[in-house]
Amino acid sequence: MRKIIIDCDPGHDDMMAIMLAAASGNVNLLGITTVAGNQTGDKTFTNALKVVTLIGENIPVARGCDKPLVRELVTAPQFHGQTGLDGADLPSAVINPAAEHACDFIISTARQNGTITLVPTGPLTNIALALTKDPGIKNNIERIVLMGGGMHDSNVTPAAEFNIYVDPEAAKIVFNSGIPITMVGLDVTNRAIMTPGEIEDLNKPGGRVSGVVVPLLQFFAKANKDIFDLPGAPLHDALAVASVIAPEVIKTKHRRVDIEVSGELTRGMTLVDIYGVTGKTPNADVALELDNKLFISMMSSAVHTLDSRAAEGK
Ligand code: BDR
Ligand code: CA
Repeated sequence: MRKIIIDCDPGHDDMMAIMLAAASGNVNLLGITTVAGNQTGDKTFTNALKVVTLIGENIPVARGCDKPLVRELVTAPQFHGQTGLDGADLPSAVINPAAEHACDFIISTARQNGTITLVPTGPLTNIALALTKDPGIKNNIERIVLMGGGMHDSNVTPAAEFNIYVDPEAAKIVFNSGIPITMVGLDVTNRAIMTPGEIEDLNKPGGRVSGVVVPLLQFFAKANKDIFDLPGAPLHDALAVASVIAPEVIKTKHRRVDIEVSGELTRGMTLVDIYGVTGKTPNADVALELDNKLFISMMSSAVHTLDSRAAEGK
């Protein structure tokens, strides 16, 4: 079973990513590390603690960087609200955070566990810092399956996806690290949509977890309808986790991806060398196709599993 760490900035879709991994019997979620992104570092960390409290699992949560490596933080309240998880009525956090900084948690967990898979679903600040602080952990990281970027698609500027845009210097370090990368970008995640009807169905027969998730996703679907005219909630980050659990949920092409760090209009762009014109060695498996039916069924099952576990724990 693959051992994973989710490095995230919850975030509606980050929350769904955590829940999918926690519910799955096919991955071992060793821990959650948080980073500033969708909201401030304080808020994303607190949100992760609340999510773990909601699902009632014993998963370590370590707080990481409050700002990108060299730039000022950009947040995304237009999608996630002022709390980062608007729409959700989450319980107060009752679990104790891990003592280590996220970066040290990643290093120590990688070293103690032989090989692990990192699943970053926010800006790549913590991952870049961990790789810089202890480059030897590259041998302990089997693969980085990240939500970020896009070959043809963008969301925060006409050129860039949010996670890469927020900390392009970190993204450059990660993409140049030599560690195998799967880039689960907007080309697929903007189509990983849960429709309003599917969201409502999560609450049948209903339970503690789905009762929180339904209004959460309704908020997120509305934001994405208002801003992008999407027909539902794009569960970007959860698709990265889904592809670790069931690789057939996406189809990829092995290509070179470079990160724009200095462009006037193109900060954070992921340049995918689709025709091999640079002659550079490919460094990423770029997701270009999606089985959304499979993905949505995985998400629904995960929520129902967590509802059942919550009911049993009562
Ligand atoms: C990514 O940006 C964030 O707002 C989401 O949580 C996701 O990780 C999508 O571009
Ligand atoms: Ca995210």
